[in-house]
Amino acid sequence: MKPVRVGVIGAGWGQLQIEAFHRVRAMQVVALCDSDKSKLESVAKRYKIATTFSNHRDLLARDDVDLISIATPPGLHYAITRAAIDAGKHIVCEKPLALADNDARDLLALAEKRNVVHAVDYEMRYLPAIAYAKELIDEEYLGQLLRVDVTMTLPVAWSREHGNWAADDARGGGVMMELGLHFIDILRWWFGDVREVIAERRTNFPTLKIPYASGNGFTTQTITGDDAFWCVFRFARGGEAVLNFISGARYDPGWTVGAYGQTGSLVVQGGGLLGMRDGDREMAILPIPKRLELGDNPRDPLMWGMVKLFERVAAKINCEDDAKPFPNFRDGVENLRLVHAIRRAAQERKWIEL
Ligand SMILES: NC(=O)c1ccc[n+]([C@@H]2O[C@H](COP(=O)([O-])OP(=O)(O)OC[C@H]3O[C@@H](n4cnc5c(N)ncnc54)[C@H](O)[C@@H]3O)[C@@H](O)[C@H]2O)c1
Repeated sequence: MKPVRVGVIGAGWGQLQIEAFHRVRAMQVVALCDSDKSKLESVAKRYKIATTFSNHRDLLARDDVDLISIATPPGLHYAITRAAIDAGKHIVCEKPLALADNDARDLLALAEKRNVVHAVDYEMRYLPAIAYAKELIDEEYLGQLLRVDVTMTLPVAWSREHGNWAADDARGGGVMMELGLHFIDILRWWFGDVREVIAERRTNFPTLKIPYASGNGFTTQTITGDDAFWCVFRFARGGEAVLNFISGARYDPGWTVGAYGQTGSLVVQGGGLLGMRDGDREMAILPIPKRLELGDNPRDPLMWGMVKLFERVAAKINCEDDAKPFPNFRDGVENLRLVHAIRRAAQERKWIEL
């Protein structure tokens, strides 16, 4: 079988994507695009990618590229994804799929019409504890859900070097869009549709000091993205979720997801999964089946999570009989719909129905 030929656009996070594509037998990175020419050159050299472009349109015009992976800042996802669909390419798009939810819907409709394979890079689904919890939840381990808690406590929301789009609300920044979205995806994947939501968003640190390269003095950037938020969902199937994210704290205990039901509890913490259900004497570490394990050389679970996601995309492109599902543009649309409802709930200070 011929490998799927991949073109990556965006050489920031895109570098880790390249690491992941290199580990997928049925895929081969053949081209790289970045508008920053010096970065393009150095990353292409590091990964020995001979074909490079500084304009994505030149990459999309190539007929020796089957799949485009879009890892630019979020404000560009819509235009580039749209152009890639028009060019008939299969697509992996970074999260968020777009900024506006009607743009995301537009991309889903276009991708379905052109019959291209479409994925959004929600690779956290493949972290073994998250993936195994999904299986247990589907097997009714929890019984009727009472509540699921997600807690993240970050020392800093963004590094001073990276204080650009990630800190800018209008360009898709903010902690909710950048990090919260992964957990919103996991909760939707585990528990299905959300019926209504209430929320608060804050920017507790509205300016960022960015030192000059010379070391003498600094410039300041105004932060418009949220650096903290909480929200409560009610799921259509019953039960609630509480998400609680803050940044600027002195101590980071690591993120935790705890799901509590009428017959069982599951807690994802520090990469492991703890569980207890009726009949158990205590909460205990649940052994994770081998088939869900990730590689550990290098020890980079998110990169290996992408390997799993990309393998599934390759199987779908190659029409393999046992191709397994993966997060696609429909998930991109639903997750974004939820983010916009959360933002509206915070702004209007009331429950918003979806
Ligand atoms: N799935 C994950 O776990 C995960 C993790 C980190 C980042 N991301 C996502 O990846 C995307 C990129 O994030 P990042 O941290 O790499 O950002 P970044 O700003 O560090 O890098 C983006 C790159 O895109 C390039 N770029 C900008 N405009 C371009 C254009 N018009 N054409 C080609 N290249 C262009 C920039 O030069 C830069 O190299 C975002 O959507 C982010 O949410 C996902």
